[in-house]
Amino acid sequence: MDATGSARAARSSGAETMSAVEQTRYGTAPRHVLGMGRTDRPAPREGQVLVRVRAASVDRGTWHLMAGRPYPVRLVFGLRRPSFLNPGRNLAGVVEEVGQGVTDFRPGDEVYGIASGNGTFAEYAVAKQEKLDRKPTNVSFEQAAAVPVSAGTALEAVRDHARVQPGEEVLVIGASGGVGTFAVQIAHALGARVTGLASGAKLDAVRALGADGVLDHRRDEIPQGRFDAVIDIAGRRPLAQLRRVLTPHGRLVIVGGETGGRLCDGLGRQFRAALLSPFVGQTLGFFVSKERGADLRALTGLIEAGSVTPLVDRVFPLAETAAAVEYLIDGRATGKVVVTV
Ligand SMILES: NC(=O)c1ccc[n+]([C@@H]2O[C@H](COP(=O)([O-])OP(=O)(O)OC[C@H]3O[C@@H](n4cnc5c(N)ncnc54)[C@H](OP(=O)(O)O)[C@@H]3O)[C@@H](O)[C@H]2O)c1
Repeated sequence: MDATGSARAARSSGAETMSAVEQTRYGTAPRHVLGMGRTDRPAPREGQVLVRVRAASVDRGTWHLMAGRPYPVRLVFGLRRPSFLNPGRNLAGVVEEVGQGVTDFRPGDEVYGIASGNGTFAEYAVAKQEKLDRKPTNVSFEQAAAVPVSAGTALEAVRDHARVQPGEEVLVIGASGGVGTFAVQIAHALGARVTGLASGAKLDAVRALGADGVLDHRRDEIPQGRFDAVIDIAGRRPLAQLRRVLTPHGRLVIVGGETGGRLCDGLGRQFRAALLSPFVGQTLGFFVSKERGADLRALTGLIEAGSVTPLVDRVFPLAETAAAVEYLIDGRATGKVVVTV
């Protein structure tokens, strides 16, 4: 589409409305703050793509944005009230229009990725072209929507920070969750021997993802001194305990772990790990996902090769987005929770 055509398309889309989840204040209870409404359809700016959303996914970050917790979230997303339409960030759908300067996509392309300024629990959302890729041909829109943030984080943790090598012993703590189900598959694809730690009812699912061993975090002891790399996604285990299960030169990568803390959500453990690392034989650290387009493209390759398959636990209709967030936060999901539009 030429520049004039795209500007005309942007103007006309601005006049149209769409169904969307709307959030006007922060709050911890999804049913109190996520309501359905009609709002203006966004228009793609320069370098942006307007996507007709077919599916969007929920993760822990959805809850953090919705609740405005820990409080530093509000420095970025609005001090008194959210600056976004709703806290959805991941999407899969079909390109509706492209803004000026977009060369990688055109209307009708099936895409997936991360939206600009959030708001993917809606009929339409915009994304920068570099935060999108073509939807893998062998998965549904629901599966594709499950991928961007969770699988991107897992890829960074396993490949870039833990630098997992073939034949290594890798422990994934939180193996049944959104990030964990991808981390298990990516470590397995890199040739590691993977042990997944999760609750008892979800262990079969973790094994089916390619884990060589599974442990129940409520019952089993983790073998000491065994793991070349530990990817800690959940559970808030003390640093000393995590170091004991590593080999003397093992690597610990802390991805997350919920404490519900209002100010820094228990980030002290992450900082202690990074501060201690230069003084011990093990490498200890944490990271914040960069959400790079190149990682999305690497994931497309892994999915199309059959090395990674998004595990979608449950799909909710758009009008039940609040129930979808509750389902995840209650700890009922194995893998990802998706909203279909
Ligand atoms: N660093 C980053 O840039 C980044 C990016 C994305 C996410 N995160 C963080 O990563 C964490 C996980 O996110 P997510 O979306 O994967 O959440 P999720 O889908 O809710 O998964 C969390 C998993 O943790 C497991 N779990 C809970 N208590 C546990 C324990 N004591 N031991 C072991 N596993 C336990 C649960 O499994 P069971 O039911 O089997 O216990 C659940 O499946 C969050 O804290 C999130 O904020 C960080």
